[in-house]
Amino acid sequence: MSKENNIKELLDKREQAKLGGGQKRIDTQHKKGKLTARERIDLLLDEGSFEEFDMFVTHRCTNFGLEKEKYPSDGVVTGFGTIDGRLVYVFSQDFTVFGGSLSETFAQKICKIMDKAMKVGAPLIGINDSGGARIQEGVLSLAGYAEIFQRNIMASGVIPQISAIFGPCAGGAVYSPALTDFTIMTKKNSYMFVTGPKVVKSVTGEVVTDEELGGAMVHGSKSGVNHFVAEDEQEGISLIRKILSYLPQNNLEDPPLAPCDDPIDRLDDALNEIVPENPNKPYDVKDIIYSLVDYGEFLEVQRHFAPNIVIGFAKFNGMPVGIVANQPNYLAGVLDINASRKAARFVRFCDAFNVPIVTLVDVPGFLPGTAQEYGGIIIHGAKLLYAYGEATVPKITITLRKSYGGAHDVMSCKQLRGDINYAWPSAEIAVMGGKGAIEVLYQKEIKAIENEAERTEFMSKKEAEYKEKFANPYNAAQYGYIDDVIEPRNTRFRIIRALQSVATKKDSNPPKKHSNIPL
Ligand code: HXC
Repeated sequence: MSKENNIKELLDKREQAKLGGGQKRIDTQHKKGKLTARERIDLLLDEGSFEEFDMFVTHRCTNFGLEKEKYPSDGVVTGFGTIDGRLVYVFSQDFTVFGGSLSETFAQKICKIMDKAMKVGAPLIGINDSGGARIQEGVLSLAGYAEIFQRNIMASGVIPQISAIFGPCAGGAVYSPALTDFTIMTKKNSYMFVTGPKVVKSVTGEVVTDEELGGAMVHGSKSGVNHFVAEDEQEGISLIRKILSYLPQNNLEDPPLAPCDDPIDRLDDALNEIVPENPNKPYDVKDIIYSLVDYGEFLEVQRHFAPNIVIGFAKFNGMPVGIVANQPNYLAGVLDINASRKAARFVRFCDAFNVPIVTLVDVPGFLPGTAQEYGGIIIHGAKLLYAYGEATVPKITITLRKSYGGAHDVMSCKQLRGDINYAWPSAEIAVMGGKGAIEVLYQKEIKAIENEAERTEFMSKKEAEYKEKFANPYNAAQYGYIDDVIEPRNTRFRIIRALQSVATKKDSNPPKKHSNIPL
């Protein structure tokens, strides 16, 4: 064959591979409002940066006459490219080829790029759109999944792993995204479940739709399985790019510093007034976050799940940080099972990838009641405690208002190796709130007063005494548990100085095989 023909053959083969399962199936994909596997990659990566591997791989299956039906790439597009000039590895499942179902060779392609991402220390991005195990391949397909799971596990805490779910993701296939750091779903076309509606109906009799069982909002608000709910694929893809802008390439690097011309000493007078005088009145802690961080930009994670705690990424003078904040606007910012789980995983993520943690505290305690106790709040609350105590990244804590009881300890207190702990003058750091404390301390006296007006007066007097003694930041500051009481409007500057002062911090945990976090 002449050189010219050689090249033509290559180009023809490439064109054929790019068609995946054929134009008709591509049209069906588009009609559903979905992009193809390659269109997604083109949107995700810097223009022209994608280098594809294994375009000519085909399956080896001969069951059910499958040897007559082969498509180059075999249902998954894999390779590397860049996002904002930084290397990433990516796989994108192609629903037009056997419904994106996973074969032996399909799994091998994914494993190949996972191994490369691990070797060079670059993030891995997986775009999922698949009917699950390729039925014709039987156990080879199950083994393929397990090969991927094993690599997800080994990569956990070493390179950032991000999953987008842009189609079905069912059966055991859900466990690869579940093992990764962040999962993004779209409001339409995206669903995840261990068993689909048909199986649910036959086993339990329950009738549900795909959406009700495993749609984006279900996993965004009820299960907490996903971290971001995107309007559409375009938004989902730009979220992936955004998340990576806060992260290092791997656990041995620091997060990337961004240029910043938002003044570090910008004062916000509104912060001096933001905490209401009445301790039972809520306010939105996100208003504080927006005011403090560079350009008011805050990438909130798990926005719809356990809104009593807010988590997400932001920057201070260009330095990426993870923010954890109790939210008085929802359930008074109480810690419950879901809030503890949500924040604990985030703290551990930040710690694994050298992202400093800024904690804003306004917490009345743990949520009481049988529902919480039966659900194991002791174990789940311990997760957050454990995560903070184990974390060796810089930890800056600002107590805004309440910091009561066990929840005070949990929320990055000094003794959990909090590096710098500041408080606003409105802070109340105590074993419990005034009213509850008085009812315990003076129960006999209170019972003995028969006249109601006199009883109320007695209680108010005692509560005022208690507040004077404990419901302020100075009692904790007197022991050095609070490093300084700061003026709220100056908090941005104080946080940035604090972060700068501990940027080179070295802390470590004792050598061990692995820890035994209460799961
Ligand atoms: C082989 C599959 C397939 C699969 C879909 N296809 N799923 N081929 N193995 N698992 C093929 C279809 O035959 C069809 O081929 C094409 O993909 C598109 O599928 P449609 O059904 O036409 O598409 P749609 O109506 O959009 O429905 C998508 C779907 C449905 C909901 C995903 O296809 C479906 O329910 N598939 C089976 C899902 C499933 O039970 N998978 C196994 C789960 S268990 P043509 O030639 O017509 O284009 C599992 C275990 C993993 O995954 C364990 C890991 C540990």
